[in-house]
Amino acid sequence: MKDQRNLIVITGAAGGIGQSCARTFKNQSLILTDYSQELVDEAVEKLQKEGFDVSGIACDITDKNDIEKLTKFVAENGSLKAFIHTAGVSGTVTDLKKLYTIDLVATDLLVDAFYEIAEENSVAVLLSSMMAHTIPPNEAYDEALANPQNTTSFDMMSAAAENNSDMMYNFVKRGVLLLSHKNVDKWGEKGARIVTVSPGVIETPMALKAAEEHPERMEMIKKATPLQRNGQPEDIADVVYFLTSDAARFITGTDILVDGGVIQNIKKMG
Ligand SMILES: NC(=O)c1ccc[n+]([C@@H]2O[C@H](COP(=O)([O-])OP(=O)(O)OC[C@H]3O[C@@H](n4cnc5c(N)ncnc54)[C@H](O)[C@@H]3O)[C@@H](O)[C@H]2O)c1
Repeated sequence: MKDQRNLIVITGAAGGIGQSCARTFKNQSLILTDYSQELVDEAVEKLQKEGFDVSGIACDITDKNDIEKLTKFVAENGSLKAFIHTAGVSGTVTDLKKLYTIDLVATDLLVDAFYEIAEENSVAVLLSSMMAHTIPPNEAYDEALANPQNTTSFDMMSAAAENNSDMMYNFVKRGVLLLSHKNVDKWGEKGARIVTVSPGVIETPMALKAAEEHPERMEMIKKATPLQRNGQPEDIADVVYFLTSDAARFITGTDILVDGGVIQNIKKMG
């Protein structure tokens, strides 16, 4: 008989935000996933030692077979309470197709796959970025971003990004917001929710790598942040925890910006 444990599934669980999110679910059942079995085993072992109820399975989120294995594993182990999607790469990945595939196409694949196992009160929380808010609405590219698997979408977006990977990152993160809008009715029919969280600069391996490449830009962002500091993974994890809780039961199809207020100042700078 199926075990009725309510499961919290976290992608990118070996990463900074993923690990921190996991730590907020002390008395719940976690399934962690990341790119390789080694990364997953390490993350699972660490939390098991701290007394968490946690298991894991590797999944390259760009691989449809891996995604199928992941959702099958979840369905066999209980019912889906929350799907927290933090896996991703930044604009430091200069191969535009790779960046687009990991951050946007894979998100589209995962949302569809997790919809199949979503139930009443399940919630999907997708990690976008404050940079998504620098991209204005545009009918042509919004259609491509909301349908990233269409044959013409990638070409349109790489032209719009002028082959610049940081710009492509901003576009694909807007795409993540659009995917939640596109799916909100469908998830709502099940009584399930889908939301996005847009972090500012959060001190994780991803941000530290970006800081190595653009130290002056990172310093400028910090100075322009009303709260005068970078974010910590816990600043995001606490908001994600709230969004998965019953306290957020009427929140769906929207984005929560968690950036210390900096995006308003970045927009003013143009
Ligand atoms: N750190 C920041 O400043 C920041 C800011 C805005 C948005 N974000 C977003 O938050 C999310 C988490 O970021 P983070 O800072 O924790 O990054 P991180 O680099 O610490 O973690 C990302 C994780 O994703 C995994 N991953 C990458 N490609 C994968 C693939 N193909 N299949 C499976 N797993 C894969 C990596 O192995 C890694 O463990 C990302 O979506 C990122 O874009 C982060």
